[in-house]
Amino acid sequence: MSSNVVVAIDGYSSCGKSTLAKALAKKLHFIYVDSGAMYRAVTLYFLRNNVDLKDEEAILAALKDVHLNFHSRDYNSHILLNDEEVSDEIRLMPVSENVSAVAALKSVRHEMVKQQQRMGASKNIVMDGRDIGTAVFPNAQVKVFMTADPKVRAERRFKELSPANPDLTLEDVFENLAHRDYADTTRAESPLTRAADAIILDNTNLTPEQQLDFALEKLKPFLK
Ligand code: CDP
Ligand code: CDP
Repeated sequence: MSSNVVVAIDGYSSCGKSTLAKALAKKLHFIYVDSGAMYRAVTLYFLRNNVDLKDEEAILAALKDVHLNFHSRDYNSHILLNDEEVSDEIRLMPVSENVSAVAALKSVRHEMVKQQQRMGASKNIVMDGRDIGTAVFPNAQVKVFMTADPKVRAERRFKELSPANPDLTLEDVFENLAHRDYADTTRAESPLTRAADAIILDNTNLTPEQQLDFALEKLKPFLK
């Protein structure tokens, strides 16, 4: 039996999952995997190649042409789509507006979950996403389910994106988060839901440092 430790972090859009996951990975010297970046990169490929989301054959063919790799620098995971660095482009609105529809496709999820399980099969890993504690690693030793007030989440994401995107409004960001949360929690294939054994972390009033301390405390029994 494998003795590696898996930390699964799930939750709503823009509620601090990757901030926590990266900080934990850095502190513990674990590998960090941003599963959302994988769905975003697939979405970027589908958009660039006009893949029809109703055409199962076209989806399967496109998936065969998508090769994803992570490039780990300082625990900020950089994702490569067919050897091209796309870490910035996948955060922009065209991808954000389409990613939940792509992530709802069974064949896309099947392929991503297979790759994610391979990454965490024998290594200590922190992975964040929507279905990590429920579908990807149901036996993860530590599961955190994150949430925060939707307005606070939108403000945080807006602050992050607005300097480079002057036309973006806070309302655009709020609407996008609400739309994705609705789509992600109501889809048929492994919807976002809290695993029964996940610790809830509401970080509305917590700084990144405070949320890290909270998670480290919960992890203590698993780290000798
Ligand atoms: O960072 P943010 O919370 O905005 O989103 P993300 O983690 O980059 O994920 C983007 C989208 O990918 C989500 O809204 C989901 O539709 C999808 N996703 C998923 O379905 N399953 C995952 N494990 C991770 C992301
Ligand atoms: O990964 P996810 O989409 O859940 O969120 P994130 O990218 O980690 O965090 C979204 C934004 O909220 C980032 O700009 C973080 O710096 C910020 N944040 C914060 O201000 N306070 C926290 N306790 C957590 C995150």
